[in-house]
Amino acid sequence: LGEVLARREKAGGGACLLFGIPDHKDEIGSAAWDENGVVQRAMAQIRRLSPEMYIIGDVCMCEYTSHGHCGILDETGYVKNDETLGYLCRIAVSYARAGADMVAPSDMMDGHIQAIRSALDEAGFVNTAILGYSAKFASGFYGPFRDAADSAPAFGDRKAYQMDPANGREALREIEADIREGADMVMVKPAMPYLDILKAGSEAYNIPFAAYQVSGEYSMLKKAMEEGLLPPTVVEESLIALKRAGARWLITYFALEVGEALKNR
Ligand code: PBG
Ligand code: ZN
Repeated sequence: LGEVLARREKAGGGACLLFGIPDHKDEIGSAAWDENGVVQRAMAQIRRLSPEMYIIGDVCMCEYTSHGHCGILDETGYVKNDETLGYLCRIAVSYARAGADMVAPSDMMDGHIQAIRSALDEAGFVNTAILGYSAKFASGFYGPFRDAADSAPAFGDRKAYQMDPANGREALREIEADIREGADMVMVKPAMPYLDILKAGSEAYNIPFAAYQVSGEYSMLKKAMEEGLLPPTVVEESLIALKRAGARWLITYFALEVGEALKNR
């Protein structure tokens, strides 16, 4: 972490979005809100080493649950939306306590933004911002992330809470709901296959949009460049497309190298 931070500082600082891989997973993802959890400790360390860094924590349960789902399950294996909200709130508050500037719930439970806003306020963290993963699709492009985090669902899929790629208007309704519940920013994810949502959303709502170039998008470009199938310029081209479509923030695994390239230009 120290090494990455030093590189990041040299490239011009900015923001970081943290995910955790815990030592052990259980049914209720208890490592997620542990005050000595891997994300909480990393946040405290970043605060110390890079005081100017804007720290964002991804709030979800799938990296921490033994079954790999983003919430608490009932006997039939279905996610219990409302019961899950309480756990998400505990995670968000633990991040705020550890020094997060912003929390980013990626669980796609209904009512999560409002629940987390209230919980943060009640705990005194009125200035901790919320970035909603509002338009998050049930996508095959998350594959490499799930491999890395060992967080693929043990059974079934995430289609009960993540969105149908064919349903663009539902994405706009989810964005609207998150804004109404108090999101400070909203996100479209994955990015490149959903540029139409980014464009329509950012034109329809007066709130800054983030676009998340996810692990599958990153891996495709990375692999194709390694194989010599594509030139290195495709990285910036892929990110410029997101800006053009209306993104104010780009979330990308290329952040460090693009930051360094821009600095040296
Ligand atoms: C957790 C989460 C995922 C990603 C970000 N937060 C995995 C998922 O929903 O399966 C994917 C990120 C990526 O693919 O880069 N819910
Ligand atoms: Zn999840």
